[in-house]
Amino acid sequence: MYPSAFLQTLLITASFASNTFAQSQLPLSDVTDPTKRAEIALSALQIWYNAGTGLWSTTGWWNSANVMTIVANLAKVDNNPQLQSLAPRIFANTLLQAPAQNPQPGVEGNPLRKRDNTNETFTLFNSTVLETGYNKILDNEDELTTIYPENWNTPTGKYIDITQLPIYKTSERASVAVAAANANDWLDGFYDDDLWWALAWIAAYDVTQEDPYLTLAENIFAAVATAWGTNCGDGGIYWSWQKDYVNAIPNELFLSTAAHLANRAEDKQTYVEWAQRELEWFMGTGMINERGTINDGLTSDCKNNNLTTWSYNQGVILGGLVELNRASPDESYLTLAARIAKAAIEELSDENGVIHDKCGPYCGADGSQFKGIFARNLQMLHVAAPDEAYVKCIQANADSVWRNDRDEGNMLSIDWAGPFVNPANASTHSSAMEALVAAITVR
Ligand SMILES: *[C@@H]1O[C@H](CO)[C@@H](O)[C@H](O)[C@H]1NC(C)=O
Ligand SMILES: *[C@@H]1O[C@H](CO)[C@@H](O)[C@H](O)[C@H]1NC(C)=O
Ligand SMILES: *[C@@H]1O[C@H](CO)[C@@H](O)[C@H](O)[C@H]1NC(C)=O
Ligand SMILES: *[C@@H]1O[C@H](CO)[C@@H](O)[C@H](O)[C@H]1NC(C)=O
Repeated sequence: MYPSAFLQTLLITASFASNTFAQSQLPLSDVTDPTKRAEIALSALQIWYNAGTGLWSTTGWWNSANVMTIVANLAKVDNNPQLQSLAPRIFANTLLQAPAQNPQPGVEGNPLRKRDNTNETFTLFNSTVLETGYNKILDNEDELTTIYPENWNTPTGKYIDITQLPIYKTSERASVAVAAANANDWLDGFYDDDLWWALAWIAAYDVTQEDPYLTLAENIFAAVATAWGTNCGDGGIYWSWQKDYVNAIPNELFLSTAAHLANRAEDKQTYVEWAQRELEWFMGTGMINERGTINDGLTSDCKNNNLTTWSYNQGVILGGLVELNRASPDESYLTLAARIAKAAIEELSDENGVIHDKCGPYCGADGSQFKGIFARNLQMLHVAAPDEAYVKCIQANADSVWRNDRDEGNMLSIDWAGPFVNPANASTHSSAMEALVAAITVR
């Protein structure tokens, strides 16, 4: 799976980074411009993008939603024409290809569409509504581990160069509009996965202003909202359709998705209310501990379970509060966000200010992606409520990623403090790239 050095060089020089290099005669280690660093990282990232599946190989289903969000976030702040042409191609291609890779479609009993590759028509069918073996567990170090059905996402077919594909405009291609209308394609029974995709489509909408992407995000959210209500105070959502764990991540994502939609979709008030309802419930659960950081979830009798304060759980809520404050301003949202962000920086940083999760440097494919999600959301908080502590954190992490955690092919690995841990993959690389992207706007 690890791309050969030759392929890597070819792709980097042939596709994206060529003019990056042309502008800069410096050795790469001396590249300090945050945008150039992020562009170079994007060139390396795209080696893993499989246009035939619409996903980034070497990482999982929900992880690819995050990778797509990262590409969108870079496209929001970098006008490089190559990137502006690449990003919409990725969104449209992923929209068409990725549903076939959904690891557990229809498990909640929703009818599905199946796409016919040859004539691009869609037929409705009802899935077997069977469990596929897709599952997410906390291992005995309480690290998230996803188990995929056998042969999931096995690469098929030849390599397709995404830059050779057309940009599918939703207004011009009926098949794209149809695909965008179907939320069931993106539901797999785990509500966090569903909402990662909702956020990814919102990010795609932000870049393209293509309404169908926003509609898709709304429809995914609506489907998840039907699951509202747990045994803990009758509010919040479970981790999954199995209803056996009430935890932080899907609920933070629920807040964030609702708040993002409030600032974009027509029915603002409904989304504001969902976000507020989620926040009120969340604050009542005790998931925020006495240090101000957020543990993984609740015990079966609805008490804080004191499991690991993973970095992504300190991150997602920040972006949610920022968007909620934008939709329905209230100082207390940003005060709460600042308290969590500072507690997290304190708890997760080493003596050089570099963020670590406790699994490092041997996190699995899921844990490898957490830190970048924290960096992304800390950047959002900094834009809304600037603070020198966030600048320091993001810059320290971006610099360390660039100087200590990068190999000669510009692959980025798991340990942001370094040294480079071989091999890097789309989880480790995309996550570290988020620190580079965050550093673009935080100066
Ligand atoms: C597209 O292909 C499917 C399956 O091969 C077939 O059932 C359907 O009739 C085709 N539709 C059109 C419009 O040709
Ligand atoms: C799928 O199943 C549901 C529920 O049983 C039913 O209402 C729906 O009509 C079915 N859809 C198709 C396309 O068969
Ligand atoms: C929670 O976990 C922390 C760190 O693992 C430990 O120091 C603390 O004693 C635990 N608190 C409770 C109430 O179990
Ligand atoms: C990605 O890299 C991490 C960290 O080195 C590793 O634990 C994980 O298994 C890798 N994922 C894949 C799919 O190879």
